[in-house]
Amino acid sequence: MIVLGIETSCDETAVSICKDSEILSNVISSQIIHSEFGGVVPEIASREHERMLNTIAHKAILDSDIKIGDIEGIAVTNGPGLAGSLLTGVSFAKGLALGLGIKIISINHLEAHIIANLLDKSDVEFPFLCLLVSGGHTQLWLINKLGDYKLLGETRDDAAGEAFDKGARILGLGYPGGPEIEKCAKGGNNQLIAFPRALSYSKKIEFSFSGLKTSLLYFMDSFKESSDNSLADVAASYQQAIIDCLINKMKLATDITGINTIAIAGGVAKNELLRRELHKKLSDKKIIFPDLNYCTDNAAMISYLGEIKFNLGVQSDIDFGILPNFQL
Ligand code: KG4
Ligand code: ZN
Repeated sequence: MIVLGIETSCDETAVSICKDSEILSNVISSQIIHSEFGGVVPEIASREHERMLNTIAHKAILDSDIKIGDIEGIAVTNGPGLAGSLLTGVSFAKGLALGLGIKIISINHLEAHIIANLLDKSDVEFPFLCLLVSGGHTQLWLINKLGDYKLLGETRDDAAGEAFDKGARILGLGYPGGPEIEKCAKGGNNQLIAFPRALSYSKKIEFSFSGLKTSLLYFMDSFKESSDNSLADVAASYQQAIIDCLINKMKLATDITGINTIAIAGGVAKNELLRRELHKKLSDKKIIFPDLNYCTDNAAMISYLGEIKFNLGVQSDIDFGILPNFQL
């Protein structure tokens, strides 16, 4: 079947067409306007979605070589995310579904991130562990099968993506911080500064990144670039500390559960060091990565999961609402 997916939970306006589990188009417009504020401004985000949605939807339909009348269902993110941003996408989706006289389904953004691991792959077997690392979440999930998920642990405070974003701001780099820190860290000495790895001795699956961010802030108070240490060294040491914490708890989760297949999801799953270290430190496990295009927010994961759900006979009533704090 042909499904049009819409994603507007934060600062990416995205529309995708999925046909029989294959992504025909995946159009994303990132709102660069927020970079001057060092973070997403909710009011601006929803206005930008409203301005861009029609154009992005048109492009997604054109790119996929289908006609608007071929679309059989609409899938749209209804949470978690920014209320105004979610509302823009959901309202647009409802209008389109009503106008075309087709069914609609609301999608949990977190579930879509996890299920993005199945996209374009035929060899993923359940159960698997999934580290969901985005701007707002750091959670370790046990994925038993589609629709059967168990939360094994999560962050006590900041998310890993947030640690990258706030760290980048402290280092005077741009937004979003993840790719900026990754770029700045290239060639840097990741051992130069011993940033803390919080909860590394705890035998619980839990994370904490707020202390790490504070320790970077204090370190930068007295930092001056010299022939002995550069900003690249600081970025590399900071990035290594975040990734070490993530790997450490993934290892613990495989020990506790005995499950040997691991996936990652969310924006931070794009990080090269995380991918390398997973292969190095968990070399005896089967590791699944989502395609780089499906890590940060996108609508391919929404249209794909929407089609799966429609095929299972699930759909939403047209009066569903947004759920900014939607849990999985
Ligand atoms: O999944 P996502 O696009 O949005 C949310 O659902 O939050 O994730 C965004 C987060 C941001 O915090 C961003 O800094 C981080 O993902 N990120 C990265 C990289 N690319 C994006 N973090 C580390 N390394 C990257 N290459
Ligand atoms: Zn996301």
